[in-house]
Amino acid sequence: MRTIAIANQKGGCGKTTTAINLSACLVSSGKRVLLIDLDPQSHATMGLGVEVDPKKTMYHVMAWDEDAPIVLEDIMVAVKDNFHLAPSDIKLSAIEQELAGRKGREHTLMHALQGLERFYDFIIIDCPPSIGHLCFNALRAAGEAIIPIDMSLFSLRGVAKLTDIMVLLENHCEHHVQTRALVTMFDYRTRYSRQVLEKVKETFKDRVFETVIRYNIRLRETVDHGLPVGDYDKHAIGQKDYENLAREVIAASETGRAKTACERTHAQDILKRAEDYLDAVHDSPIPIEPPDEMDEAFPFPVQSSYSAMIEALAASPAEGASESEDSYEEF
Ligand SMILES: Nc1ncnc2c1ncn2[C@@H]1O[C@H](COP(=O)(O)OP(=O)(O)OP(=O)(O)O)[C@@H](O)[C@H]1O
Ligand SMILES: [Mg+2]
Repeated sequence: MRTIAIANQKGGCGKTTTAINLSACLVSSGKRVLLIDLDPQSHATMGLGVEVDPKKTMYHVMAWDEDAPIVLEDIMVAVKDNFHLAPSDIKLSAIEQELAGRKGREHTLMHALQGLERFYDFIIIDCPPSIGHLCFNALRAAGEAIIPIDMSLFSLRGVAKLTDIMVLLENHCEHHVQTRALVTMFDYRTRYSRQVLEKVKETFKDRVFETVIRYNIRLRETVDHGLPVGDYDKHAIGQKDYENLAREVIAASETGRAKTACERTHAQDILKRAEDYLDAVHDSPIPIEPPDEMDEAFPFPVQSSYSAMIEALAASPAEGASESEDSYEEF
């Protein structure tokens, strides 16, 4: 069983679209998939048209009440054969606060996934657009992460923050996450997009998927119908792109794993590449027309719950951490 978190703190970069459509394409390729909606916005749940029982959601799994435990099997909904969803709703937003004071909080999802190996080939986790306990739990539970990048510098900033977390996981929990970037909402018609894509591939090298998800209006429309794009329009460009991504993900199982074992510094490497990329964009001869959001915020640090979470983790180390592992000054 492979567990893949789809994460980037940048909002609207294609995490949920990727989670839904990659899951659906993996299922079409004969794989058994559980999609976990770990975002209180519950867009994956809505995007699959799933009716939620408010007493059986990811909130209840993550809140873990010993007297009345609710496990993943209790909340799963069958989307179709071999495709199950663990739904969420807005109540999941309370979990950030609730987990904050709990010992071993970063292992909650990892424990919840134990024993599912027999039932699934893939677990896909749709993360929220923030770096807090939910995202940390997802990365702790996952062996791999896909980081959608919608070609904005904000997305690259998200990569840098995520890789900080991955370094923390390696140092604190000895947990390694194999990470790859995925270019989304790509528009081949513009010279700017093509040049930036070239630059991203050159910079990230084997840390970026060959598959590029093109901008496709069907991917937008399909959400209103509560369906993966392939069930809405099987000829859509978006469907072709996600089929290619699924093929690449499946093919990566052997080659990727062999590589992972000898690459302990993977997270640092992708962080370095993201930083190099940001530097290069600054000096780039490409006539870059930055999105409006960048004018205001770049180059200042992006504010998020990230710093608060790192401080909280540093103040109260994880279960099983030794004294010497308690320091996070470097973050
Ligand atoms: N390749 C694409 N082409 C066109 N529209 C897309 C594409 N991918 C995603 N979208 C649309 O962009 C919007 C944001 O996508 P999505 O919800 O997947 O992002 P997200 O990263 O999950 O957002 P959030 O951070 O809020 O969870 C949605 O309206 C979605 O339909
Ligand atoms: Mg989303």
